[in-house]
Amino acid sequence: MNDKNNVFIFDTTMRDGEQSPGASMSLEEKIQIARIFDELGIDIIEAGFPIASPGDFEAVTAISKILKNAIPCGLSRASKKDIDACHQALKAAPRFRIHTFISTSPLHMKHKLNKTPEQVLDAIKESVTYARNLTDDVEWSCEDGTRTDMDYMCKSVELAISCGAKTINIPDTVGYTIPSEFTKIITTLKNKVPNIDKAILSVHCHNDLGLAVANSLAGVSAGVRQVECTINGIGERAGNAALEEIVMAIRTRNDLMPYTTGIKTELLSKASKIVSNATFPVQFNKAIVGKNAFAHEAGIHQDGMLKNRETYEIMTPESVGVKKTSLVMGKHSGRHAFKEKLNDLGYTDVTDDVIQSAFGKFKILADKKKHVYDDDIAALTDESMVLD
Ligand code: KIV
Ligand code: ZN
Repeated sequence: MNDKNNVFIFDTTMRDGEQSPGASMSLEEKIQIARIFDELGIDIIEAGFPIASPGDFEAVTAISKILKNAIPCGLSRASKKDIDACHQALKAAPRFRIHTFISTSPLHMKHKLNKTPEQVLDAIKESVTYARNLTDDVEWSCEDGTRTDMDYMCKSVELAISCGAKTINIPDTVGYTIPSEFTKIITTLKNKVPNIDKAILSVHCHNDLGLAVANSLAGVSAGVRQVECTINGIGERAGNAALEEIVMAIRTRNDLMPYTTGIKTELLSKASKIVSNATFPVQFNKAIVGKNAFAHEAGIHQDGMLKNRETYEIMTPESVGVKKTSLVMGKHSGRHAFKEKLNDLGYTDVTDDVIQSAFGKFKILADKKKHVYDDDIAALTDESMVLD
């Protein structure tokens, strides 16, 4: 796991993900999610924000006791009270991480924190040092990092590292950056922060402009080795970077992104279902885990798929735990797929005339209905057989 090309996967489904409206999870649901995440191969699981509520505290405590492989983590602001709560919730685990953060953008420092940049530097020093005395695994984040002055960010990152932070996370808190800009931010940190190599650089991207995954991957290509993400991309507002998309992009385009993750991708679909059952449904066209991600309706596509699946599939459904590609029968479907469907339904020795007649009826029906079910196809094939 210490391979220089390994990218650590830090999941925040149960912390940032839970902050999305409608995503509150019960303790039982969180435990079920933690178990599948542990099996999935996630490296660090941010299980909650212990100071936020007794429920969060309880969930972080419970999860930190059951993980077999993943490192449990809790979030805290730059305050001793928060850090103590985190420590109390996590301390039963053999290894744990305290993640502490403070805003560093001019906007947040002035309007949210009502602190001067110097006061924020003092808070970084105090909080990271305090957390470091409780664990040697401290992560520090500069909230609203992508709207932070670059020289100030370099200064605060260097300070956090000198106080003992082992992971430095750069959040795009409001999903504002774009890949080329984020590449520059990461490259500048790598070039200008003297002790940057003493910490693992991480990114945490929000999806307000639909760029969370693209920005995360730009970060990885620029040298970060931890990405923070959530299953199904759930999170504040438009969500966080989707774990399944990042992992499958790295796997599928390993020619351009020669990195590895420890994720057992065959479990992605199962993890997605468990999270959506506990939160809200996944959109049909969601990459990797949406109902339509491996479904083809257009006749030309179905024909191509039947000849060679690589024509329209860049990864196999099996690789993410989906049983098989589905050729959906609709008005765009062609004869080739229709015949294949009849085979699947057990109509293996019907005559060409029956197929022709059933296909004609199917097209008329498909024009009228959104979904043509297997039963519909069977019924009109039976009818054509009687008439043959
Ligand atoms: O988006 C953000 O800035 C965060 C931090 C607390 C890491 O979630
Ligand atoms: Zn966030």
